[in-house]
Amino acid sequence: MPSIARLTMALALVGAVAATPVQLDKRSSFTVEQVKHTTHLKNGAALKVKTLRKFGKEVPQELLDASENWANNNANILSADAGGSQGSDPAVPSDSYDSSYLSPVTVGSTTVHLDFDTGSADLWVFSSLQATSQLSGHDYYHTDASKVKSGYSWEISYGDGSGASGKVYADKVVVGPVTATSQAVEAATSVSSEFSQDTNTDGLLGLAFSTINTVSPQQQNTFFDTVKSQLAAPVFCANLKYHAAGTYDFGFIDSSKYTGPITYVNVDSSNGFWGFTATGYTVGTTTTKASLPGIVDTGTTLIYTDTAVVRAYYAKVSGAKNDSTQGGYIFPCTATLPNFAITIGGVAQTVPAKYINYAPLGDGTCFGGIQDDTGLGFSIFGDIFLKSKYVVHDKTSSTPRLGFAQQVGV
Ligand SMILES: *[C@@H]1O[C@H](CO)[C@@H](O)[C@H](O)[C@H]1NC(C)=O
Repeated sequence: MPSIARLTMALALVGAVAATPVQLDKRSSFTVEQVKHTTHLKNGAALKVKTLRKFGKEVPQELLDASENWANNNANILSADAGGSQGSDPAVPSDSYDSSYLSPVTVGSTTVHLDFDTGSADLWVFSSLQATSQLSGHDYYHTDASKVKSGYSWEISYGDGSGASGKVYADKVVVGPVTATSQAVEAATSVSSEFSQDTNTDGLLGLAFSTINTVSPQQQNTFFDTVKSQLAAPVFCANLKYHAAGTYDFGFIDSSKYTGPITYVNVDSSNGFWGFTATGYTVGTTTTKASLPGIVDTGTTLIYTDTAVVRAYYAKVSGAKNDSTQGGYIFPCTATLPNFAITIGGVAQTVPAKYINYAPLGDGTCFGGIQDDTGLGFSIFGDIFLKSKYVVHDKTSSTPRLGFAQQVGV
């Protein structure tokens, strides 16, 4: 079994929640600041393994091997990394590769750090129901037996036997100034080692559509669906940052965080995701029309897209190659990269070239932030794309929509 989580052992900086002034109508709008999640080296193959698993796809053996090889080759670096602990300043504050973004959330009586994930719809959290050996390094939900939803359970499982499962509680969840008094909280009874070893992440807060929530016998609403009527407007905006902690705005659109217009497109939520179809892509200055059905997903680190798009991009990067031992495209770290854009609603949404250099592999080559979606069947515009964007997720009308704008200062 590949040890993805081992690779994400890292140091974290404690973040804070900053509330914007409360609206006169007493409905809320607020900003959640993320906690920085620093990682010193990244395993590109493991990222693809994780993404395929997340979307319920089969993982090719070749990719598992690439991930394992990487871990073995970097065992010395990883064990040094594992010395880090939560809440302290990084001992080696050198690099950070934005592998995930965490935000503080109070569940019941405890504040935990959750990965706000627009590509899933469960709010699951480490809990006191787990063996203490799994809780080391984590903050966790202290379950309250009086709040249990008896007969309810949840389970996320993957092809190789890894996963998480547990019981369901209706408890208080507080994000910023907004409280959901009876939110479905999915308390883990057990998690596989991939999860327990990633001491930064205490769970996930899903922001996709409630139709893909995994609770049975009855699906539960996401936190956003629970509180959206308390918000000044039923929107949230993702403002992830390059090598820095970003923010999520709930209930309002912060016009100080983007420049130019916001371009809106209707969302196809039939699969439970924030789906849309991009109509082209640009490499450097060359634009090509193409139909690229895909989703935005804050819980996916890279951009995974059509093979033809990926080839067109790396054709412009000298020395780039699709390296099966690394699980994707790599290039000399000194190579000059072109900008990349996808066309959304007729507007090119550009990712600056340097964002596409995801991480050095330690041997002078770097792992690309754009990789093929082989095995997925649709594009995932993950953090590499989102880090330069201000993205509005709008449920004001019956057809939800996404709005895209370029971040200020990008
Ligand atoms: C890269 O190689 C893998 C096989 O190792 C293949 O599945 C994938 O489609 C290739 N990607 C591109 C963009 O050619």
